[in-house]
Amino acid sequence: MKRSRILAIFALTQVLALAACDTLAGSAGGASGRWPFPSLGHEKPIIIGHRGASGALPEHTIESYLRALNDGADCIEPDLVLSKDGVLIVRHDTYLSSTTNIAAKPEFSKRKRRSTDPEYAGRDDWWVSDFTAAELKTLRAVQSFPGRTKVFDGLYQIPTFDEVLSLATSRKTVADKPVCVYPEAKSPAYFASVGQPDMAEKILATLDKHGLAAKGSPIFIQSFEPDFVQKISTMTELPVVMLVADKAGLDTAMAKPGAPFWDGLGPSLGMLIDADGKSTGVVEAAHARGILVHPWTFRNDAPPVKGEPVEAAIRRYLALGLDGFFTDFPITGYKVRNEIQYGVE
Ligand code: G3P
Ligand code: CA
Repeated sequence: MKRSRILAIFALTQVLALAACDTLAGSAGGASGRWPFPSLGHEKPIIIGHRGASGALPEHTIESYLRALNDGADCIEPDLVLSKDGVLIVRHDTYLSSTTNIAAKPEFSKRKRRSTDPEYAGRDDWWVSDFTAAELKTLRAVQSFPGRTKVFDGLYQIPTFDEVLSLATSRKTVADKPVCVYPEAKSPAYFASVGQPDMAEKILATLDKHGLAAKGSPIFIQSFEPDFVQKISTMTELPVVMLVADKAGLDTAMAKPGAPFWDGLGPSLGMLIDADGKSTGVVEAAHARGILVHPWTFRNDAPPVKGEPVEAAIRRYLALGLDGFFTDFPITGYKVRNEIQYGVE
């Protein structure tokens, strides 16, 4: 990674890391303002609202992103897919049945079909790429995570990436800082294979429209596809994040010529701590190369270790030196981070 790029990312992380309670002082990291754990530069880790505040409200809705910001998130995370007419739509999946009310819309009943995406071979569903952005706007989001409240089902629209960026640039974090947006390109190779517009170009053009494409803008671009991460890293000076679900995924990305071509690593939580509760070395290895580590996903209702309160788990993982983390419940991440920063036991 280029030194100028590292410096720009440090500047960005400093802006984001100073996002909470900076006027308080007096304990733990508070007296010196220095984060006590070995994050890069000992910067305070950022809180990334995973699909917004998806623990509280249906994921990937404007309302969920607003809730995340109100609950202390520094960043909001839109997962991106493409509509039939090439609009970047915010959904985790390329299909629609689990997070929208499409099954209850009779006008769309005949458009359910078998997947052409090998990742979902055999699946019968409604596919985002079969619907225009205008059609998708007639749907309403629903809570898909088992056990979470469904009282908000049917109330909120599916946003476009453009709308999420409008929201982000019209708000501040709870600490009056710029809102960071952390978009993930979902299935970029599949969309390219079916003749859709290039996702990297679309994402960067949309960021540019909102004045968020320049170096130092509060943006991280992420993907599980190494080819996409490598390609977009050559198109922008914004930080790019390589998502990996397991060691095999990391090995595959690292095997590519030019690796590591990412500025941040987004590993699953399980990759960071072994069965004995010790660090696997993934955080330390990334930091040795100046690479940020932002793992996913802390959930109050599905903590990494069954029976351990999620607050304790977040604290344990933060002690590794995380530079940020994804959580469905930003309010919990905010609370734990502040307790560490200001010494509350
Ligand atoms: O992008 C980080 C994390 O969200 C990756 O998992 O499946 O929730 O997008 P997923
Ligand atoms: Ca994601």
